[in-house]
Amino acid sequence: MSNQIPEEVIEEIRKTNDIVDIIGEYVHLKKQGRNYFGLCPFHGEKTPSFSVTQEKQIFHCFGCGKGGNVLTFMMEIESFSFYEAIKFLADKSGITLPDSGIKQESSITQESQSILSAHGWLTKLYHHLLRYTKDGKEGYKYLKERGIGDDAIETFQLGFAPNVKDFVAEFLIKKGFQKQLLVKAGILSQLNDTEVTDRFRGRVMFPIRNHIGKTVAFGGRSIKEQEPKYLNSPESELFQKGKLLYNFDLAKKHIRKVNEVVLFEGYMDVISAYQAGVKNVVATLGTSLTEPQAKLLNRYVETVIICYDGDRAGLEATYKAAELLRKNGCSIKVARLDSDMDPDSFIQKYGSEAFEDKVIKASETYMSFYMRYLKKDFNLKNEGDRINYIENILKELAMIESSIEREYYLRELSNEYNISIEALSSEMYEYRQKQGIPRDNQQKNRYTNKNTIAKRNKKLFPAFYNAERKLISYMLQDSYITDKVQNEMGAGFNVDDHKIIATHLYAFYEEGHSPDISLFIDRLNDDRLKQQVIEVAMMPVLNEISDREINDYIRIILNKANDSVNIKSLKEQQKLAEQQNDPLKAAQIAMQIIEIQKHLKNPN
Ligand code: UTP
Ligand code: MN
Repeated sequence: MSNQIPEEVIEEIRKTNDIVDIIGEYVHLKKQGRNYFGLCPFHGEKTPSFSVTQEKQIFHCFGCGKGGNVLTFMMEIESFSFYEAIKFLADKSGITLPDSGIKQESSITQESQSILSAHGWLTKLYHHLLRYTKDGKEGYKYLKERGIGDDAIETFQLGFAPNVKDFVAEFLIKKGFQKQLLVKAGILSQLNDTEVTDRFRGRVMFPIRNHIGKTVAFGGRSIKEQEPKYLNSPESELFQKGKLLYNFDLAKKHIRKVNEVVLFEGYMDVISAYQAGVKNVVATLGTSLTEPQAKLLNRYVETVIICYDGDRAGLEATYKAAELLRKNGCSIKVARLDSDMDPDSFIQKYGSEAFEDKVIKASETYMSFYMRYLKKDFNLKNEGDRINYIENILKELAMIESSIEREYYLRELSNEYNISIEALSSEMYEYRQKQGIPRDNQQKNRYTNKNTIAKRNKKLFPAFYNAERKLISYMLQDSYITDKVQNEMGAGFNVDDHKIIATHLYAFYEEGHSPDISLFIDRLNDDRLKQQVIEVAMMPVLNEISDREINDYIRIILNKANDSVNIKSLKEQQKLAEQQNDPLKAAQIAMQIIEIQKHLKNPN
């Protein structure tokens, strides 16, 4: 990887950013033995095959094969360039990068970088105006009246855009930003051919931060009766409403702690909840929940608590969001509010404690919600409707995995509608059968993924191939073993990739490095090789290995070198079989040859 940042600096950055902490901000990791496991953020999955080792500072997904170190992870997950990943991690650990001569390649366009910078300045300006100046006083007063304290104003960098024609225009143009760019970014509006004006005027400003905390847009709340209530920045490369969640950057660490997130509809709900001490909170941005948002949430948490407005529209939106989230693998719960309430007004009226205890903690399961939701379509006083309703519920119930949960709702239905539990149960099982769900469907633990991994690795490799991988995995963590291998067999590996990896390793130790897998893979240029090293490094190996075992591996490998001879003899046998008119045998031999050749060339 070409870069002009000194290697010591990169190494320090890697050392101060533990891979488990960094990945832990994106993936819910659980320790299992020596490794951590979670759901892979790079491909959709329901059982975790994504693993991280602290010891080796690398990650690997047994499902999709992605792997690397902390830098590669940041590049993959954020689509960062190498430099951006370094910069991001350096900032995190308070390391200043030497700025001379560094090529600052970036994953976003020059224009977007400029817009980002303008938004950064504006966030500070609006906030400063609100907090400390006469121009912003009415905004500050508005927030105070709505019960928003200084701490929240600070945390969310709330601000005020004064009702002046070109306050911002002047400020930013003086800073060297181009007028047309600011118009494009939705910071200024074009008045006529020559004149521009501030887009946000007389509004309380809510900076909309992306998931790494940079302002990419604003929502401006009118404080008088001005329409629209919220004026938002237009969509851009940086700001796509359907892909962002308000407050995701700050909520991340709280979400991770409890493995739950509360999903709201409004900015104010988020801020109120934050003040009430519920901090694992995010909101959509005035549109219904989208698939990318659902996927994003599923990457981070198991359970999403949907907490929308209590009115009819809120209920419908809840149902839609619930379906989408479930489809994308989240468990969901629904927080209930009276029909005239939204989360913010509930908190203002009843206080923080009530919100936490009576709304969030008391949120209902999906099934309870669904039973309530579905009632709207039926007149339950009418017998036909009632039966229809119950059948619908049973169909839904049939899909639930947990037998305890199923039983619970069957009882509830049985009590409420006075139907025997046996009758309900037998009908539900019929639906289950129709869906092809086996009767004895034992629940699987999300984290007992041993089987799946074992299954995936079950491909049988020839002994020499396994010996080479084993040997390399020991060499990766031990320079003494590497020395021994180098002396006894040099580049005598049979698989080309292994040969190259070994050669790189010899050089790596010769340069005086200690074993460091994460550093080593940084120095390999080829992605395929990197993946191979990571896979090998992830293999469980013993801490102590005897010389005899090493010798055994070496012997197996060297013997295999004779395999090319083997191929030759197989080819002769194949010819013979053909001559003897035994096509079946010839084909079998041909397969054997292909297998050997495949493993010699590219064993994966
Ligand atoms: P709400 O009308 O529920 O707003 O819209 P709110 O958050 O409760 O705000 P307050 O309490 O009245 O101040 C929910 C979300 O829809 C978007 C905003 O993202 C808002 O937070 N919205 C709403 C707009 O973008 N424009 C609007 O005019 C209204
Ligand atoms: Mn509101």
